Amino acid sequence: MNRKELIKAYLDFFKSKGHAVIKSASLIPENDPTVLFNTAGMQPIVPYLLGQKHSMGNRLTDVQKCVRTNDIEDVGDQRHLTFFEMLGNWSLGDYFKKESISYSYEFLTKILKIDFKKIHVTVFEGEVGIPRDEESAQIWNNLGISKTNIHYLPREDNWWGPAGESGPCGPDTEIFIDTGIISCGPKCCPGCKCKKYLEIWNNVFMEYNKTKEGKYEKLKQKNVDTGMGVERALTILNGKDNVYETSLFLPVIKIVEEITGKKYDAYEKSFRIIMDHIRAATLILGEKIAPSNKDQGYILRRLIRRSVRHARLLGYKKELLNNLANYYIAEFGSDYSEIYTNKEFIIDELKKEEEKFLATIEKGMLEFNKISTKDISAKDAFLLFQSFGFPIEITQELAEEKKIKVDIKGFNEEYLKHQILSKQGAEQKFKGGLADNSETTTKLHTATHMLNAALTKVLGKETHQKGSNITPERLRFDFTFERKLTDDELKRTEELVNAKINESLPVIMQELSIAEAKAKGAKGEFENKYGEKVKVYFIGDFSKEMCGGPHVKNTKELGHFKIIKEEAVSAGVRRIKAVLE
Ligand code: SER
Repeated sequence: MNRKELIKAYLDFFKSKGHAVIKSASLIPENDPTVLFNTAGMQPIVPYLLGQKHSMGNRLTDVQKCVRTNDIEDVGDQRHLTFFEMLGNWSLGDYFKKESISYSYEFLTKILKIDFKKIHVTVFEGEVGIPRDEESAQIWNNLGISKTNIHYLPREDNWWGPAGESGPCGPDTEIFIDTGIISCGPKCCPGCKCKKYLEIWNNVFMEYNKTKEGKYEKLKQKNVDTGMGVERALTILNGKDNVYETSLFLPVIKIVEEITGKKYDAYEKSFRIIMDHIRAATLILGEKIAPSNKDQGYILRRLIRRSVRHARLLGYKKELLNNLANYYIAEFGSDYSEIYTNKEFIIDELKKEEEKFLATIEKGMLEFNKISTKDISAKDAFLLFQSFGFPIEITQELAEEKKIKVDIKGFNEEYLKHQILSKQGAEQKFKGGLADNSETTTKLHTATHMLNAALTKVLGKETHQKGSNITPERLRFDFTFERKLTDDELKRTEELVNAKINESLPVIMQELSIAEAKAKGAKGEFENKYGEKVKVYFIGDFSKEMCGGPHVKNTKELGHFKIIKEEAVSAGVRRIKAVLE
């Protein structure tokens, strides 16, 4: 079975059980700025697990793109991956343990045709205040799983969540497949570090919400959240002990071997790092994130630069990373359309970042060899970062290979000092005129006001702003509205904004008292403002909105406005992404 067949079989099965198939959310969590990436299928579902109504009903299923960054340095062994896909099915206050376990059993034994005797399951053994999960054990047993294959384990093994500090969580029942290899000893059971039992699926019975204070409260509704890692499942289904040798990566190994002339067996670690990192990089670039020194952009930079380093170990070939990215675009683009849409961006940014690092890596390696006769000081690590573009993690990896240490703490202090200095520099620059990026974002700020006004005209006065976020590439605007916008509404909104841009309307700011601003009908959040004056921006008589600015002087500076996406954020809230071109 290959990846596509598994995903299709899973979604079809749950569809036949009354689940609505929903689209994977973006890799970047939309409502949680505290984490860089979605790390589990349930993360985008959290609001609904907490009781919000989902427009597709109370039985959902999907395949979700996920990235975990904690283990990037471990990639190269047999099982760690940066990007992975998680299949999931959810009951939002609908079915609970009995149906959930029966569905899993049916899918594994009837669809995937796994011998039921090979199935082992774990259930929560209980603790003060939370009972032992005899109910799940009984359900498994009734389905035919023998008592010897049912294992009771404590919280470390059989409790899932919350994904962050607080949120929905609960006891789970985890499903393992016995690989048939000899156990490591009499205590061996699922959850053991030896590879006898491989986990294939996790069914979480989310009845609790952990509060910020650390208390467990019963949720309003009993939910089911299950997760099956696609790569892990393929490892089992393909009868392998190693994710890189499944049907998923075999064609990729072949590409690397053909281009480099090197054999996987002799260069396992570098092969795996490159295959994993370029896959993750392709999917992250597909979200229109570009490499940078911050947040997701920095993770991306690390992934690409580390791939470049390992590509050099295989005898660098210019087409390698590009060809791999193209392979992944073809493989994942049919499931996640943004990968196709952003194909050029992916290839261009990957190439730019690769070239940037190639320009300095050789000299950087010479420098590293010079300074690595002893432990690497903070200053030297910073020099490698600053002048040769070595992410600290690469310096660390090189140092480990030489069995020397790096002063990471000192490096972080240097880095912080440098950041403060460059921030002061940027502020100086800002005083003298807007930086390039700021000019683009300024335009998008003005375009956001115009979109807000246009939506009011097209959809009616009740719709109002819920949120806004602007990057140099695009604007994102959330607003209240009950349903999906029609193509005609989107077209009229876009046309209205463009018509107003073409009218060359002046953008004028006035400082007004709140009473004056309200009297003039300006939009804005006035609730938390008392007594002070507020800035109101007028775009001709098309838009009046309270805002801190900055904005362009005339709408003709904006160019052409284009809506690229319209989607749901939550019940009653829609989101539009738009660009200026
Ligand atoms: N949230 C659980 C997991 O990630 C099940 O989906 O394993």
